[in-house]
Amino acid sequence: MRTVSNFPIGAAMRFLPFSDDPELQRLQKHHFDSYTAGNDMKMYNIMPKEGVFDFSVTDAILEYTQENDQRLFGHNLIWHSSTPPWVKEKARENPDWLSSFMKSYISTYVGRYRSFVHGWDVVNEGLRTKGSGYREDSIWYEVLGSRYIEQAFFYAHEADPQAVLFYNDFNIERDLEKFNFMIDMVEDFIERGVPISGIGFQMHIRMDTPNGVIASTLQRAAATGLQIHLSEVDIIFNRHDDTRGGGLQIRTSLTPEMEKAQAQKYYDLAMIYRSVVPSDQQYGITLWGFNDRDTWIRPFFGIQDWPTIYDERLQPKPAFFGLLNGLR
Ligand code: XIL
Repeated sequence: MRTVSNFPIGAAMRFLPFSDDPELQRLQKHHFDSYTAGNDMKMYNIMPKEGVFDFSVTDAILEYTQENDQRLFGHNLIWHSSTPPWVKEKARENPDWLSSFMKSYISTYVGRYRSFVHGWDVVNEGLRTKGSGYREDSIWYEVLGSRYIEQAFFYAHEADPQAVLFYNDFNIERDLEKFNFMIDMVEDFIERGVPISGIGFQMHIRMDTPNGVIASTLQRAAATGLQIHLSEVDIIFNRHDDTRGGGLQIRTSLTPEMEKAQAQKYYDLAMIYRSVVPSDQQYGITLWGFNDRDTWIRPFFGIQDWPTIYDERLQPKPAFFGLLNGLR
C-alpha cells in the first residue's frame, strides 16, 4: 500500500506483541510507512509513577521506525482516558500542581523526541462524547478548564517547533454538533495564534456512516487549511455506545456480501479523503490495527466484529483490496 499511496499510510500497533511477531512485522514493513503506537506512548505507560519516565518502549519503537524508514507519529500527549491514577489523585489534592506538571511532562517528552517524532496528537478527545461542549469528565478540564487544550499546544510547540500538532477526536465525521464545536474551537485557535497544525479524525466508523456526511465534514475541516489525518480508521458492522463494554451485537457472522460491502466502504473512504482534502493537507490515513485478530473493537466493546483489512489468520480481506484500489 505504501507504494501506491501519495501520502503516508499508517497502522497503530502495540509494540510488545508486535515486536515478537515476525509475520505481523513483515506485513507492517511491506504496507505501511507511518507508525502509531497502540498504547505504548500514552501517559500511563510513559509516566506510570510520579517522577518516573519510562522511555524504553518508545526508544525501541523509534529505532524500529528509523531502521525501516517509517514516520513515527506520537499518540498521545493529553487524554483523560490515559491519565494515570496518581496524576488524578495528586491534581485533586493540589490543583495548582497540574498545570506545571503538564508543562514539564510535555516539554520533557516532546523535547526528548524533538525532530524524531514527526507529529503528535496533542489533545485527544477533549470534547464531550456526543453533541457540543468540552468533555467534563476529564481531570484536565475539571482542574484547569478548557484552557488546558491550548496550553498543551503551546508547550508542545515550544518543545519541538517543527512537529505537526493535532487535535484528535472521534465521531466528528458524523456528529455534526460535535463537529461544529470542534471547528469553532480550532478556528478560534488559528485566529489567536495557538500553534495547532492539524485535525485528526479518528474515523472509527460503521458500515452505515453516510459517505456524504463524511465528505462534507472532511471538506469543512480542510477549509481551515490545516493538515487532516484519518488517524484511527476501522469499519464495524455492529454498534456500540462509545463506552467500554457497550457493544450491540447485530451481525454474528461475516458473510461474503458483508465483506464485499466493507471493501467498497474502505474504497469510498480513501476516495473521499483524496478528493476533498487538498494534497498538501493529506497527512495520511492510519488504521487502528490492521487485522481482525488483534483489533481493539472486540475486547473493548465486547462484541464480535471484523473491522479491519486482514482476517484472523493474517490473510488480506476484500477490504484490503478495496483500500488499495481507493489509494491507487
Ligand atoms: C484503545 C486501545 O486500542 C485499547 O487497547 C485500549 O484498551 C483503549 O484504547 N481512541 C483512541 C485510542 O484515541 O487511543 C484508543 O485505543 C481507541 C479509541
